[in-house]
Amino acid sequence: MRVDIITVVPELLKGPFDHSILKRAQEKGLFEIYVHDLKKFGIGKFNQIDDYQYGGGAGMVLRVEPLFQAITTLQQHRDYDDIIFMTPDAPVLTQSEANKISLYENVMIVCGHYKGIDQRIRDHLITKELSIGDYVLSGGELAAAVLVDAIGRLIPGVLNDGSSALTDSFQDGVLSGPVYTRPAIFNDWAVPDVLVSGHEKKISDWRHEQSLIRTQNIRPDLLENE
Ligand code: ADE
Repeated sequence: MRVDIITVVPELLKGPFDHSILKRAQEKGLFEIYVHDLKKFGIGKFNQIDDYQYGGGAGMVLRVEPLFQAITTLQQHRDYDDIIFMTPDAPVLTQSEANKISLYENVMIVCGHYKGIDQRIRDHLITKELSIGDYVLSGGELAAAVLVDAIGRLIPGVLNDGSSALTDSFQDGVLSGPVYTRPAIFNDWAVPDVLVSGHEKKISDWRHEQSLIRTQNIRPDLLENE
């Protein structure tokens, strides 16, 4: 999969993809991430990218021309499965949406900044809008990094043990239960007996039950549609 990210602050996206699982995914050739600086498409001598909003009000808005140039320039080289705008006024990213996007070949992500982007870009070029939660960040860059991380680890072959992504929280609509590793007893804190029993069926029943208990306690809303 190839991801192209358009941003006003490319520096913010320098670090997140250069470590751990996403770094390995890129080294294995399974994932390509390119960050494009919107200022390169700015207008005039000062590469202007934003302006005051019509009708008045605080906050600058990213102008239509630089975004149009950036998006259509990228489109000249490949077809995109989706052109995604990260914004708080959008449906919240879910695991099932991440699963779907992880099967794409080419994804473009547009990061907003300041007050937002000119609505005409959203109306005419953006094909999907996503929020990462009900809070406002200073720009879409960290949201884009969250989306890229969520989809990158799902690309077939990226995780060494592919089955582990399937047991993540939300993957079957509930939270994951507790996990333990060695030692079996630390101080007087013991790992639940069932996990060291070697009894596969009992272990999987226990895990399922613990998932439901945790979900009921922390996110009962997830069980409402069951
Ligand atoms: N940009 C600013 N806040 C955001 C959010 N919560 N999700 C996605 N993009 C954003």
